[in-house]
Amino acid sequence: MKIVVTGGAGYIGSHTCVELLENGYDVIVIDNLSNSSFEALRRVEEITGKKVEFHNVDIRDKSSLSGIFKLLSETLLPLSLKDNTAVIHFAGLKAVGESVSFPLEYYNNNITGTINLLEVMKEYGVKNLVFSSSATVYGNPHTLPIKENFPLSVTNPYGRTKLMIEEILKDLHLSDPSWNIALLRYFNPVGAHKSGKIGEDPFGIPNNLFPYIAQVAVGRLPFLNIFGNDYHTEYNREDGTGVRDFIHVSDLAVGHIKALPKLFTNCGVVTYNLGTGKGHSVIELVSAFEKASGVEIPFKIAPRRAGDIAACYADPSKAEKELGWKATRTVDDMCRDTWNWQKNNPNGFRL
Ligand code: NAD
Ligand code: UFG
Repeated sequence: MKIVVTGGAGYIGSHTCVELLENGYDVIVIDNLSNSSFEALRRVEEITGKKVEFHNVDIRDKSSLSGIFKLLSETLLPLSLKDNTAVIHFAGLKAVGESVSFPLEYYNNNITGTINLLEVMKEYGVKNLVFSSSATVYGNPHTLPIKENFPLSVTNPYGRTKLMIEEILKDLHLSDPSWNIALLRYFNPVGAHKSGKIGEDPFGIPNNLFPYIAQVAVGRLPFLNIFGNDYHTEYNREDGTGVRDFIHVSDLAVGHIKALPKLFTNCGVVTYNLGTGKGHSVIELVSAFEKASGVEIPFKIAPRRAGDIAACYADPSKAEKELGWKATRTVDDMCRDTWNWQKNNPNGFRL
């Protein structure tokens, strides 16, 4: 079985490539390296001892994309593409704040890119897709934990691209029921592969909590700003800092492996939360990271960050029931693996 992985050189993509290769899938990565490094894929090969086919292509470049699928159809002959391939679609821009400043870039990259991909898939009869959606589509939920049937709303262009793509995919399936699509809504992916060879390597100053803490721990940044300790909801009782469902990236990667066979059961469009079901506060995370690393993380309490919600965690029971998937790694595992990655690669993939 051949799996096309768009954005496969990125953070979640590279960890998913490891799981795919270890589960016997052939992997074809399409990535323009706009937010990643080829070195990540070299290390995926090092971890697994297997080859990755790589195309340095932008998914908005339709003729190059078409060329990749043409080659794929020729190499698979006499097998059909429909029954022997699927696409896992990670490629996209993902920084919430940046999307507010550069909405057109986000709509162009994420929406136009996805439509191009879908048109090429349709042309070659590849109709099995796993899409990287996000818990951001739930907006600010009224109650927790969040179930897949909760109302959807978004507050920024990044989130809107995710919700729009979900809608586009539902329309596509309505028009042609032979499409099978898994919408995976990730909560907060963190951590790194246990080998310490691949991990999150954001370009510039990190936006997200975990890479920020890791860079403070390794001395690249002086201290952490904690955005608000005055969230006084029933879910923020401990210390008033934000609460999130942090999920180990390797657990998330396994979620994709579990979703693939579902596509071949003629499932139509299915939606799953990928989270642990547990909320942890920012302060709790800082303490867990200090314990795992033995390094003190200096922090300052800063004002709330615009657009942040107080608390968010998943009800992941649907994925467990229907896919047989459950996150197994703890917050301590997430901290240990992030630290292992960061201390061995203080400058990420840049040697
Ligand atoms: P990432 O930036 O590390 O990976 C995305 C990859 O896509 C990068 O390698 C980038 O170079 C590539 N890419 C971007 N635009 C492209 C284009 N036009 N053509 C080809 N390649 C392109 O991000 P990630 O954290 O691995 O996220 C993967 C997916 O999961 C994204 O769609 C993201 O929106 C989604 N997601 C991420 C999170 C998170 O917190 N990390 C949460 C929810 C959803
Ligand atoms: N935080 C800090 N200091 C920082 C960074 C973050 O205190 O330097 C806090 C935030 O205020 C929040 C928590 O840490 O309370 C988590 O923030 P992140 O930026 O790590 O993650 P978010 O929950 O804001 O968003 C992430 C992704 C989104 C995705 C969402 C749900 O960035 O793309 O998870 O999946 F939509």
